[in-house]
Amino acid sequence: MQTISCTNIPLYWNAVLLEKGVKYPVKWDISVCGHSLYHGASGMGKSTAMLISLGHLAHYFPDSYIWVLDFKSQDYSFLKGCKRYFSFEETVAGLADYKSAFLARQSGADLTRNYHILVIDEMAAQLSYYQLLDRKLAETMRLDIAQLLMLTRSYAGVILIGMQRPDTTDNFAKGARENINSITALGTLSREARNMFFADYADEIQPAGRGCGYFLTNGQLNRIIVPYPRNMQKLQAAIRRLVD
Ligand SMILES: Nc1ncnc2c1ncn2[C@@H]1O[C@H](COP(=O)(O)OP(=O)(O)OP(=O)(O)O)[C@@H](O)[C@H]1O
Ligand SMILES: [Mg+2]
Repeated sequence: MQTISCTNIPLYWNAVLLEKGVKYPVKWDISVCGHSLYHGASGMGKSTAMLISLGHLAHYFPDSYIWVLDFKSQDYSFLKGCKRYFSFEETVAGLADYKSAFLARQSGADLTRNYHILVIDEMAAQLSYYQLLDRKLAETMRLDIAQLLMLTRSYAGVILIGMQRPDTTDNFAKGARENINSITALGTLSREARNMFFADYADEIQPAGRGCGYFLTNGQLNRIIVPYPRNMQKLQAAIRRLVD
């Protein structure tokens, strides 16, 4: 299948212009800023924004492979039965599977460079679950995620992480978060989240509702509105094809 060579994807609407009646897209350059974090309190639209991102990737790069680690086992249930869909405790195997596909590229055994997209939704919940159950496993996962964030970009790896709690001391091994160059933050942010993700813009960040917030990418802050998918079933079908 042919890949459309556009790495600058129109992802959201610019909120300032939309309020004036002008539809102007805010773009996501996945060749530079692919690794992404989606943050917000429960129900603010993180998983929906992640689905929209995946839908764009499926549209522009139809030969991509997507791995979905759905620890909550709910928001991606339409993927049940797909080869690269991993729910709840299967997420451990899912991470190992993505890592081995990366190692095949790093070792030179796999010379393909279609996008390998890893989705880790509810990452903080997943890590804290294993922190209680098996500390060693939790630490291994944390280190694996850190290494994948640091090394995969030039091997066409794109990692999308969704999480509610922003306390990075537990979630990201040292230096890993610096490899996430796109942050979507939805709803009203806690002071911790503002300081952590938007320290340089603390005065600009205003409370927002569901599906609204900020997108920091390539060092630029944009106030955004996430366009709700017109046809959710079509979007899910496009994603499903790349997960299977
Ligand atoms: N951009 C949007 N515009 C309008 N409604 C939205 C938007 N995004 C999400 N919603 C609606 O808000 C609800 C919650 O969305 P979603 O599940 O994506 O949130 P979430 O942040 O992932 O929540 P949780 O943390 O509980 O998983 C859903 O009913 C969804 O249809
Ligand atoms: Mg969710």
